[in-house]
Amino acid sequence: MDFGKTDKLKVLAISGSPRRNGNTDTLLEKAIEGALNEKTEVINIILSELNISPCRHCDGCLPTGVCVIDDDMQQIHRMLRAADRIIIASPIFFMGLTAQTKTMIDRCQALWVLKYVLKLPVPYKSNGKRKGLFLSVGGTGFTKLFEPALATIKSFFTVLEFSLDGQVTYRRIDEKGDILKHPEALQEAYVSGHQLVENP
Ligand SMILES: Cc1cc2nc3c(=O)[nH]c(=O)nc-3n(C[C@H](O)[C@H](O)[C@H](O)COP(=O)(O)O)c2cc1C
Repeated sequence: MDFGKTDKLKVLAISGSPRRNGNTDTLLEKAIEGALNEKTEVINIILSELNISPCRHCDGCLPTGVCVIDDDMQQIHRMLRAADRIIIASPIFFMGLTAQTKTMIDRCQALWVLKYVLKLPVPYKSNGKRKGLFLSVGGTGFTKLFEPALATIKSFFTVLEFSLDGQVTYRRIDEKGDILKHPEALQEAYVSGHQLVENP
């Protein structure tokens, strides 16, 4: 799995929920619909179906900025570096991102090394602005429900040089399919996906 060698805007859509076709997957589908046009190429990866082991803090990446663990994260690193846009969707689990999402983010320590230790560029393209969108839901109505997850997303985006272009977050979405009762959420996800690729 990799982006084609075209001039199209490369959009990486990351599904971080272990529940297939659940609420965040539905939001992600809508955002992808909004982002898809003749000028864009969208790759959707489903983290729960990939083989991604957790960062071991072995420091194996320190000399090179390349992770020594040979699993699906190798191709995700390439796609993360090639992408012009990123859409990352994760429900809230215990006030944070899902384990699948956090595991993928932690494995970007190799890219942190590339940027801050080796002083090498993370994005493959030197020109062009990289932008990202965060989609999330949670079952409860806590006011600060998305703050811890957002702090992690912001840190992840900073390292990978994506600016946070938007966020679509909905509280009190718990049962599978609950999000379908909120057409305004689906519309917001669609519009956010559209704006993510339309604005330079
Ligand atoms: C392990 C686990 C932990 C959860 N923790 C929280 C939580 O801390 N706060 C919350 O509001 N909802 C929590 N939820 C509820 C989910 O966020 C909610 O069911 C969501 O709709 C799942 O999204 P999905 O359908 O995309 O997987 C948790 C669910 C699970 C399975």
